[in-house]
Amino acid sequence: MNSDKKFHLNLIANSITLHAGLKEVERAAGVAPSESRPVALYSEYAAIAEEGNFTSMFLADTLVAVGSPLAGGGSPEPFTALAAVAARTRNIGLIATGTTSFYEPYNLARLMASLDLISDGRAGWNCVTGALATAAPNFGSDPLPPREERYARADEFLDVVSGLWDRRTLRPNERGGTDLFAEAVNHHGKYFDVEGPLNVAPSRQGRPLVGLAGGSGSQISTAIKHADVVFTNAVSREVAAEYRSEMNQSLVAAGRKPDSIPIMPMIVPFLGATRAEAEERKRSLDMHLEVDAMAPNALANFGISYSYDDVDDPFPVDVLPHPQTVKSTIGGAWGSYRGLYNWIQERPGVTVREVTLQASLGQSHQKFVGSYDDFCDDIELWFREGLAAGFLLMCPEGLESANGFVEHLVPRLIDRGIYRTTPDERPLRERFTCT
Ligand SMILES: Cc1cc2nc3c(=O)[nH]c(=O)nc-3n(C[C@H](O)[C@H](O)[C@H](O)COP(=O)(O)O)c2cc1C
Repeated sequence: MNSDKKFHLNLIANSITLHAGLKEVERAAGVAPSESRPVALYSEYAAIAEEGNFTSMFLADTLVAVGSPLAGGGSPEPFTALAAVAARTRNIGLIATGTTSFYEPYNLARLMASLDLISDGRAGWNCVTGALATAAPNFGSDPLPPREERYARADEFLDVVSGLWDRRTLRPNERGGTDLFAEAVNHHGKYFDVEGPLNVAPSRQGRPLVGLAGGSGSQISTAIKHADVVFTNAVSREVAAEYRSEMNQSLVAAGRKPDSIPIMPMIVPFLGATRAEAEERKRSLDMHLEVDAMAPNALANFGISYSYDDVDDPFPVDVLPHPQTVKSTIGGAWGSYRGLYNWIQERPGVTVREVTLQASLGQSHQKFVGSYDDFCDDIELWFREGLAAGFLLMCPEGLESANGFVEHLVPRLIDRGIYRTTPDERPLRERFTCT
């Protein structure tokens, strides 16, 4: 491993980052609810992340209301919100989620290019095929297509977006300014007909960072062609090693160097001065969850239903199909399903309650419960074994989690020589460039 490389930290800043029990814990402790004006709140997360020399912050998104009343209060969509944050920040990378299943490529290319220009080359795209089938009725009557078709559309979508971005140059004019020269793409494909050119100038990084989110084989094939970085749901080092090996085989087959696409898994850390404190923090959040109400639908995202009499009964493991047999058909994220499946198999007698908590918190992404020192040990292993270039950090306790990362985690990572000591002023894409 190149010793100049440092671990990337990315902060997930919108309401998806919070543990669902946090509001009750705050109410019981008499803590005023955190800032509800979104730009003020996101800017607070951004300021903390900049203080900790984080590489980026990230707004996840879905194009559908998940329940009413809406947890999180109804946040603005990411491009608008991050444009406002860009004006209040200096170095932090700004990653906005946009789905290839429901946007049009010209529209998305323009929004991303605008955020990139406004932020002076700090924009990144969390390119998703979309996790929620319930968004489909907001865009016509067709249901969300199966995984392979979603990725086929994403592939063509990314071809068009790249074409629009890459056919732009700025040239000095005789008045001392610059003019944009842009060419048409004239794309005519299975899903899209787009003429172009794009009418937004390139930033100093030329085009925004593209991060493709997912974990399936289809995601890997699409990433090889288009992604600067991948955002994944590897729930353990074992799963991450399999993903990396599959990715490397595909890279080599495409004539590229292994490990040439950085991997950033999502993680939900519950941390404290000691492991016991971290466990207690998580327990005090979990106890406010209405597990009885959540349990029947805990695996609905994967299309799996089951029956039971009591949430403290053993989970009916027979309802779970083996991950390999449903690789292309399972709903939700296949990597998350595989992780959850393994987690359940390793715990004979696990209860419906325990499975519900594991599947629901942080949307079945990897969880870590332990001391800051334990977490540093873990991060160092992921980094040195080449399994992660960095982590997408959820903040289950909101700003308190974010402040804890900066106060307790960052100095420890610096002591181990795997973290930056100064702000990264390079354009976002350059920060992820692999050598
Ligand atoms: C780290 C990560 C972040 C994601 N963020 C979003 C998101 O913000 N919105 C969304 O609709 N889907 C999101 N997804 C879901 C993906 O778009 C994709 O639909 C899902 O992972 C299934 O594809 P897969 O089987 O290749 O994993 C995310 C997935 C991962 C792994």
